[in-house]
Amino acid sequence: MLCNCCEMENNTFGENEAKADLKDYRKRGPANQTKLILEAVRLLGLRDASLLDVGGGIGAIHHELLNDVASEATHVDASSAYLKIATEEAKRLGHSEQVKFIHADFTDVADELPQVDVVTLDRVVCCYPNFRALLKAASLKSRRAVVMTYPREEWYIKAVMSIMNFFQRLRNDPFRGFVHPVHEMETLLNGEGLRKISVKRLFVWEMALYQRMG
Ligand SMILES: C[S@@+](CC[C@H](N)C(=O)[O-])C[C@H]1O[C@@H](n2cnc3c(N)ncnc32)[C@H](O)[C@@H]1O
Repeated sequence: MLCNCCEMENNTFGENEAKADLKDYRKRGPANQTKLILEAVRLLGLRDASLLDVGGGIGAIHHELLNDVASEATHVDASSAYLKIATEEAKRLGHSEQVKFIHADFTDVADELPQVDVVTLDRVVCCYPNFRALLKAASLKSRRAVVMTYPREEWYIKAVMSIMNFFQRLRNDPFRGFVHPVHEMETLLNGEGLRKISVKRLFVWEMALYQRMG
């Protein structure tokens, strides 16, 4: 039986969205906020790194990083449609042997996964109500760094998110978007031994690179 999160994500991130995202990726490459994550991971100067991409969507992060800094990746996603597209694209790129795909709510399966060098969450915390459980699990899996993007905590983003959630309610769709408090996310990750060493901002998205200290 699927978790509630998977059922919800399957509805929200379905086949049409996955196909459209893949089309964009093939045409234009990674989205701007994803490029910030890729740049941050590359700046860590790792070689043959292991990755865990939580909510990786069509898999742009591992498609790209397996070309240079990474040698293996795990992609955990609550959407089966995104996973299917990501799996096909990994095969097309010759990365099938290097990527493990898992269909699950990450917080449900995190305990069973091995530690990796870098955990990425690109536009994922904003889809999940319990950011503490998500980030705590992500930090426990990361030996070197957690890199993520999330909506900026600005009034105009909160206003748009409220309007989107209002229409979700009208449609009786249980999926909600979240602008989680950046300071609380940082406090939690600091408590897990990670320090924010880089932040980059776009109009909507913020990228933060947290590195393990000591
Ligand atoms: C907005 S999409 C982002 C996809 C991709 N990272 C990108 O930026 O294009 C959010 C993704 O996170 C996944 N997701 C959300 N919460 C999750 C969770 N708790 N465990 C695993 N995947 C999750 C969704 O299924 C979806 O694929």
